[in-house]
Amino acid sequence: MELYIDTANAQDIKEALSWGCISGATTNPKIMSNEKGGYSFKEKILEIIELVKNPVSVEVTEEDLHGMVEEAKIYASWNENIVIKIPMGIEGLKAVRQLEKNEGVKTNVTAIMSSSQAILAALSGTSYASIFYGRISDMGYDPVEVIRETSALYKEQNIHTRLIVGSIRTILDVNKAFLAGADIVTVPFPILKKMTQNPKTEETIKEFNSIWREMKEKGLIKLEEKISPRKLTITRALKV
Ligand code: E4P
Repeated sequence: MELYIDTANAQDIKEALSWGCISGATTNPKIMSNEKGGYSFKEKILEIIELVKNPVSVEVTEEDLHGMVEEAKIYASWNENIVIKIPMGIEGLKAVRQLEKNEGVKTNVTAIMSSSQAILAALSGTSYASIFYGRISDMGYDPVEVIRETSALYKEQNIHTRLIVGSIRTILDVNKAFLAGADIVTVPFPILKKMTQNPKTEETIKEFNSIWREMKEKGLIKLEEKISPRKLTITRALKV
């Protein structure tokens, strides 16, 4: 079970990484367009790579085989953690085969809406396949069924392709995607933040801490040591 962040925003990536629960990032042309214009694409991707230090998906925008392969080779040459997102389709499948087999480039077949497409993606040799949860729901189909079927097939057939679920719109989508068999769920930052929150948790912590404060104020409890930031630093340094 792994969580990726679905954004190109450096601030959000930095914050989410500091929680210690994120092991990769995914981008796409629409996500890149959410960032303030006028930036260098290469510099932006390398900034994300530097922060994440793990797989980061970057999508090609060319639509024919030759164009996709050439574009992919350029992006892949920037850093070994770059995974090339290739849109699902006939040209895409051919590009994946070429990139994975002949060029040693890792790919992520994207915009998958059915288990039939996921089968083709896996057989083309892709390292990752991305099923789009929210967009499958938009069409009136059940994304959980698509994920469950694909995950079962991959396991049954010993397929090495890792299953990513993206197009996440609610925190419930994340749970359902993992329960249906996703290896990785890629989540926008606002939803990651919501995952940390629960009013009952906040109420409980407030209750515990106010009881503790009251005990201290009334002198009903003695604390042997005062916690000072300096002491914490020294302990940590000794451990290393
Ligand atoms: C996943 O890799 C995609 O970047 C993303 O989740 C697409 O989702 P959308 O439906 O929000 O565009």
